This record gives sequence, structure tokens and C-alpha cells, in this order.
Amino acid sequence: MPDPIFEARNISKRFGPVRALNEVSIAIGAGELHSIIGENGAGKSTLMNIFCGRLRPDTGALLIDRQPVHFSSPKQAAAAGIAIAPQEINLVPALSVAENIMLGAQIGARICGGAVIDWKATRAEAIRHLHEVDDQIDPASRVGDLSKAQQQLVQIARAAATDARILILDEPTATLTHRETARLFDYIRSFKARGHSIFYISHRLDEVKALSDRITVLRDGALAGTLDPATATREEMVTLMAGRPPSAMRQEPRRIPGDAPVVLKVTGLTRPGEFQDLSFSLRKGEILGVSGLIGSGRTEMAKCLFGLTRATAGEIEYFGQKTRFTSPLQAIQAGLIYLPEERKQEGIFPLLSIVENAAMPSMARFRGLLAMRNREMLAEVMDYIALLKTRIGSPRDAITTLSGGNQQKVIIARWLMRDAKVLIMDEPTRGIDVNAKFEIQAVLRRLTEERGLSIILISSEMEEVLDVADRILVMHEGRARGIVDAAGESQESLLKLAMT
Ligand SMILES: Nc1ncnc2c1ncn2[C@@H]1O[C@H](COP(=O)(O)OP(=O)(O)OP(=O)(O)O)[C@@H](O)[C@H]1O
Ligand SMILES: [Mg+2]
Repeated sequence: MPDPIFEARNISKRFGPVRALNEVSIAIGAGELHSIIGENGAGKSTLMNIFCGRLRPDTGALLIDRQPVHFSSPKQAAAAGIAIAPQEINLVPALSVAENIMLGAQIGARICGGAVIDWKATRAEAIRHLHEVDDQIDPASRVGDLSKAQQQLVQIARAAATDARILILDEPTATLTHRETARLFDYIRSFKARGHSIFYISHRLDEVKALSDRITVLRDGALAGTLDPATATREEMVTLMAGRPPSAMRQEPRRIPGDAPVVLKVTGLTRPGEFQDLSFSLRKGEILGVSGLIGSGRTEMAKCLFGLTRATAGEIEYFGQKTRFTSPLQAIQAGLIYLPEERKQEGIFPLLSIVENAAMPSMARFRGLLAMRNREMLAEVMDYIALLKTRIGSPRDAITTLSGGNQQKVIIARWLMRDAKVLIMDEPTRGIDVNAKFEIQAVLRRLTEERGLSIILISSEMEEVLDVADRILVMHEGRARGIVDAAGESQESLLKLAMT
């Protein structure tokens, strides 16, 4: 193991009654990529936020080159060579890409003793850093107009532009396409080759295994163990994360009876530039996976079914009736619900509590004769919170006190509480730990069996689609490449279908 250039010793941190970190010690050497893995709420982001000066530890010490350091702001940490691309998007939407990157790294030119910023040089530097991470983002575009994935990349460029020698990447690939991910990995390799170090956080265990020099597992805010990526198996990682071996890692294949009623039938659906001539059907109690690379038109199709956009040709039959929803409200009233991909931006009411966030769209159901039936509402929310293994303190806490993955589960609970007949879920388990992912898949299966719910599940993770879906619609560049039974397929066969 190389000599540590950065060390954390016995770091503890509490948020009120929650002990987020308990005596955690960890180190990183020059040129090392050290991954931190753990279940949702294990304390990964809290630890990283302490390393980069966004949070202060209650107790414990940080050392750079064996000298103690204290950060009371991210600026101080950046000056010491530590920068973070955080899990949540934290950019100024109204400013340009270049300006956002420049905010992190202003090159000072000292004139007459006062610090003056050389904007031209700074801008050139910003663009250079951006291009190292991605070459398709226009530095002049407004950050608010970029996709979530592009915003993620801008955050990485901004961290890199501080000339950090320790870079912290908290879930960098959760929203990235294959192409963007591959490019980011190239960047990571070149960053390491310069002798710099990276703390890497991800729920994608294959990625962690491939990139890491060392893997540390956090469980309940404490160190659970260290693994050697060369030999560690997926099972070992999951066992250490959860504190017990996984009960199961995949759902049993099943087959929906051919005489189950068709609830949604789509014929020749077309919206030029987005998707062409899509035809498929969805049966009662069925989970139809939609697979394909990002940009294959999956989200556009979902938005159209939900009434957010109009098709120019084709037909939709909903429970045997020719239907065209002209607004989401109409769709929701008819029991068709779409859980969008970009939940963090569109989905959270940050000032409200966990229970309010979950129950908001279902409030009407709990309106009593004189007052809200609060106790019933709370009980139902708590059922789903438990079902999805969500880690919360009190349901009255603000949703922003939850870890990223646990916020996501609250939003999933919200949509499961609606009395849906057809649920379209777009990348529902992104950022969710492997065990919880399995639980969510099991819940989806149960809802289809017990309530006759039908689900369209859009996911970039072929493994997930293969595990939980009954049939799979494979899309490529806006067209259906085929519909196959999940049972007979593999990742390779799906990819082949999507690409050729
Ligand atoms: N600002 C806060 N106020 C109260 N509790 C918090 C706050 N931030 C984090 N916590 C709690 O600290 C614990 C650790 O959260 P953290 O965000 O570090 O988890 P994580 O390992 O990053 O999880 P994820 O994989 O979901 O991102 C959780 O129980 C979380 O609810
Ligand atoms: Mg986190």
C-alpha cells in the first residue's frame, strides 16, 4: 500500500439522534483510487462532505502529508488540494457551463498587492478542464438547459478545475450514458496516472471492482471491512455491505398467462425525431421492461403515453378504449402514472417532511368529513417506507435529511401509494443499493400479483430488466427492435438486439 497522502482518523458525526459516522479511519495514497461502498444511508456522502470541508466532524482528525488540517469551508479544502463532485447537483442554473466551472477555480493575478482575477485565462482553463471530461458540452450553454448527466459532468470538470490532487466523486455515473461513462473512466485513468488520488462512490459494483485499487465498506456509519478488488466477488461486497449474505439476488422468472386481459395496446405510435412506429401490448399484472441505450426514445415514449407530448400517428387503447391523454392530469385520473427519471429536480418538495413528500399527491384520499385522516395517512406511508427498507429517523423530519438513495425510495413510495392501474417507471432504482434494489423489485412483483398492477419499467441496467420484467421491449434509435421473453435472454443477447 502506498504511503498515505491523506488520512482521516476516528471521524465521528451525528445529526441529532442519528449517528452518521462512528470512529471511521481511512487513508489514500498517491495515484490510488479508493472506493467507498455501502448501503443507502451508510454514511458515505457524510464522510466525503467532511473530507472536502462541506461538513465538520464532531470528533476525529484529517491529515495531509501527515500534518493535521482543519477545513471550515470547501474553499479551504480546495486550497489544500481536495475537491468534490457531489452526489446532488449543486450548480447555478442561470449561468453558463464555463462560468460554473470558473466559480470553482479562479486564477488570480496579483497586481499591486490585491488579488485580481484573470478572467480570460480562467475561462480558457475552465474549457480545457471541461474538454478533458467531455467534448460534447458547449461551454457557452446555460447549465439549466443541460441534461442531468451533462450537469454531472460539469460538476466533475469544476472539481477538476481546482487543480485538486484528491478528487472525490460521489455517484458520478448514476445518470451517465455508456459513452459518457467510458470517457469519464479515461479521464479517471489519466488523473491517476499523474499521481493524483480519487475517492470513488458508486452502487455499481462491477464499476467499483474494475476501477479500484482498494475498496472500503461502510455499514451503519462504521468501517465494515476492506476488500481487494482483484479478488473480491459481488457476493462478498454485498455481504459486507448488508452485514449478512444476500438472501437472493434475483427474482424467479415467471410467465404471464396469455389470456390475461390487455390493459394497454399501442399500435404504430410515432412522434418524428423521437420514436417511430412503436407497437406493443401490456397485460394485466405484467411487467414490461423497456431496454435500450440512453437516447433510444424510451423516455420520449413514456412522456407521450402520459399525455405530456402528442403523437403524430398511431393508436393507444387503454382498457379496450381508444384513448389519447392530452394532459398528465387526465392520465393520472385514469390510473396511468409516470414516475419520471429526473426525480431530484422535479420530484422533491425540499421544505416538506418525509410523510408529506410521500403523501402529497394522495392527500385527497385521506380527506375525512371534518379533517384529514392523518393517522391513516401516516400508517400507509410507514408501510411503504418499511416495505422499501427506507432508512429514516422520524417521518416528520425534512426529506432533505435523508441520504440520496433514501430520498429516492420516498418518491417511489409516493407513486406506489397512488391507486395506479398502469405505472410507468423511468430508471427507478438509480442510486439505490443492491439489496434495496432487490427489495424494490420484489415489491413491484408483489404489486402486480396482489393488485393486478401493470408496469412499464424503463431501465438502462439490463441486469435489472432481465431480473424483474416478464417481457422486454428493446428499442434502438426510436424504433422497436423486438419484444422478447425475459426468461430466455441474457445481457449479451439484449445488447446485440439493441445495437444491430
Ligand atoms: N443534514 C442531515 N440531517 C440529518 N441527518 C442527515 C443529514 N445528512 C445525512 N443524514 C443522515 O446520515 C446518515 C448517512 O447519510 P449519507 O448521506 O452519508 O448516506 P450515504 O451512504 O451517502 O447513502 P446513499 O447511498 O443513499 O447516498 C443517514 O441516516 C442520513 O439520514
Ligand atoms: Mg450519498
